Amino acid sequence: MTKNFYVTTPIYYGNGPVHVGHFYSSTIANTIYKYQKISGKNARFTTGIDENSQKAVIKAEEAGMPIMEYLDSMAADHTRVWDHFNMDYTDFIRTTSNRHKITVQNVLQKCFDKGDIYEGEYEGMYCVGCESFKKDEDLVFRNKTSWDTFPVSDKVKVSENIEKICPDHLTTPDQIKEKNYFFKLTNYQTWIEEFYKANPRFVNPDFRYNEVKAFVGRGLEDFSISRETNTFGIELPFDSDQVTYVWFDALFNYYTSCIQSRAWDKNNEKFIDESKVFWEGSEENKREILHVVGKDIIRFHAIFWPAMLASYFDLGETDDKGILHYKSSDNDYLPNEILTGGYFTVDGQKMSKSIGNVIDPVEYSEKYSKELLTLYMLSAFPIGNDGDYDRRDAILNFNAKMANNFGNLVNRVVVLTMKLGLENGLYGNSDNEIKSTTNKYSKEYSDSMNEFNLKESLDNTFFFLDVLNKFADTKAPWQTIKDDDKTETIETLYTLAEWVRQVGLNLYAFFPEKMSELFAKLGLENYAARLEKWELEDLRKETPVFNITEKGQPLFARFEVE
Ligand code: MSP
Repeated sequence: MTKNFYVTTPIYYGNGPVHVGHFYSSTIANTIYKYQKISGKNARFTTGIDENSQKAVIKAEEAGMPIMEYLDSMAADHTRVWDHFNMDYTDFIRTTSNRHKITVQNVLQKCFDKGDIYEGEYEGMYCVGCESFKKDEDLVFRNKTSWDTFPVSDKVKVSENIEKICPDHLTTPDQIKEKNYFFKLTNYQTWIEEFYKANPRFVNPDFRYNEVKAFVGRGLEDFSISRETNTFGIELPFDSDQVTYVWFDALFNYYTSCIQSRAWDKNNEKFIDESKVFWEGSEENKREILHVVGKDIIRFHAIFWPAMLASYFDLGETDDKGILHYKSSDNDYLPNEILTGGYFTVDGQKMSKSIGNVIDPVEYSEKYSKELLTLYMLSAFPIGNDGDYDRRDAILNFNAKMANNFGNLVNRVVVLTMKLGLENGLYGNSDNEIKSTTNKYSKEYSDSMNEFNLKESLDNTFFFLDVLNKFADTKAPWQTIKDDDKTETIETLYTLAEWVRQVGLNLYAFFPEKMSELFAKLGLENYAARLEKWELEDLRKETPVFNITEKGQPLFARFEVE
């Protein structure tokens, strides 16, 4: 039976243009989605924007625009970027939409009726940049004269020269005191610890999981889920003076998109309930849910989110002392994995407008190429680690791997095959040696793709291309073609073409447009359409005939280092 697979990106704040940090999460999710889809899964992929936030209200005011007009322009800008990159999302979620409001209000009411949401008063600090409540340990002191920052401690006091700021936004959080509703996260302490124990792969990479477990081990606290002073957002169904605070709203986007999944019927948009396909699993439906996130939002996804879902879906079992315990069928309602990306700097520096090193993904990809950006983002450092986007290295890396190793090899195969002037195309037997090499390569490739280790898949592919280039050098078909008997040349070229075809099939998930060009160069028809119809495995096994008729443009251009 086809397995249902659901991958998501974070929904990005609708208070500014898309930058390359967002692109990073999206390209990871898009590549994973493509691979899962072409290899036969019933896959879906969602992205969207997180609109109900104070930040957006502030930005709209600054721009002198009515809030909804501002958000519409942001949504259009986000989809423009994702469409430019041909991101293959199945749904784009806006949290101001009616379908989302309905979902969130249902969830809130249910959790409230159950007694997991209660009224209280919040007094403390709130960072608008992070849209989260802050404690001293989350903040730093900054000396206003030297700009040095150091941990907050009781020994130092805020003064004319010392300020307490958020380390990520470098702004002083607001001091607030207001009536709030709280979510009883403390009810879920035992449940979540047992859930983690039973699911050792819930957070990837391991070291991030260890941080999450250590945080939970220090004891959970209830958290505020509403704001009294915010006017823009989803009203609490049980108290219309309050709107829900971003995370209770934002996280449920993943569920909204399943329970009111967007579908098209003769040009009419309608919504269908796919929650039993992609969210609620069962013995028969071992669906897989993967959230791709950045390390800054890991606690929300790995701690708050499972607890909120446990509350909404009534998960767990309460013992006679009133403690809630995890049970294995709870997994049917929870995500399988939180794939947590690290942060990257650009040329060794934090990305910032003042330094002027913020990369606009569209502009950058137009100057170089989409493939250059994707290749470097996904292969310079593994998902999970922090890394650096070294702009010079990105170009050198692209030239070496794509233009030289890959592009040149393709060119050689095309040019030499055309020289042979074969009437019935280039064909041969995929003998055991060809097969065993491709099987080994494809198995390693698929294993790392299934573990979401995209860097390993790419590294492995470029290693394989190195081997192919060495094979070409040893066989030197540009020499043997001068012989009267062309048998050896045909064999060599067929072997190379077949291996390049296998590379193309595997790189399709990363570079669908370029690999479609490659298939056309090799005279392979309908490949992209067949891949999109889940036929990766069948295509891998086929014995093709290469009808190479045109030299065409090189597959990849080379770029100058500036
Ligand atoms: N709206 C929330 C997410 C809600 S999901 C239910 C949010 N939005 S965000 O726009 O601020 O960020 C979205 C993602 O972009 C984060 O996961 C963040 O890690 C990622 N990145 C932003 N800048 C980044 C880098 N410089 N490097 C890598 N990723 C970064 O958080």
